[in-house]
Amino acid sequence: MKLVIGSDHGGYALKQEIIQHLQAKGYEIMDIGCESEASCDYPDYAKKACAAIRSGEAELGILVCGTGIGMSMAANKEPGIRASLCHDVFSAKATREHNDANILCMGARVIGPGLALMITDTFLTTPFSNEERHLRRIRKYS
Ligand code: RB5
Repeated sequence: MKLVIGSDHGGYALKQEIIQHLQAKGYEIMDIGCESEASCDYPDYAKKACAAIRSGEAELGILVCGTGIGMSMAANKEPGIRASLCHDVFSAKATREHNDANILCMGARVIGPGLALMITDTFLTTPFSNEERHLRRIRKYS
């Protein structure tokens, strides 16, 4: 599966850990930045990641900032994007099954890397349920 991943400075260190973790599992990762902990603007990276999903270059995306909030707000303004801010494993599973979320957002200042990697794995390995009631609800806002 092809993935796109991005962060701002607040999420940079966690982004690097997630990339290492996922590459070791064989995922193909498109890293759209940022490239260091130098201060930058999260909407720029949210937009790049969303464009990669819309173009089909990536199937799912991961965005990390300090809280995950800015990334999720910016990503959800983009057409075709259903971004979910998840800081627990239950939500990561439910948002794939119920919302067919295509971007996972996390806050590197909120959770540690151990939990972030479990959430990431859960998000990436949980399929959308394809149930009619969920499709109907998604269509009402997509
Ligand atoms: C950057 O300081 C911080 O505002 C950003 O990483 C994020 O938490 C915004 O929502």
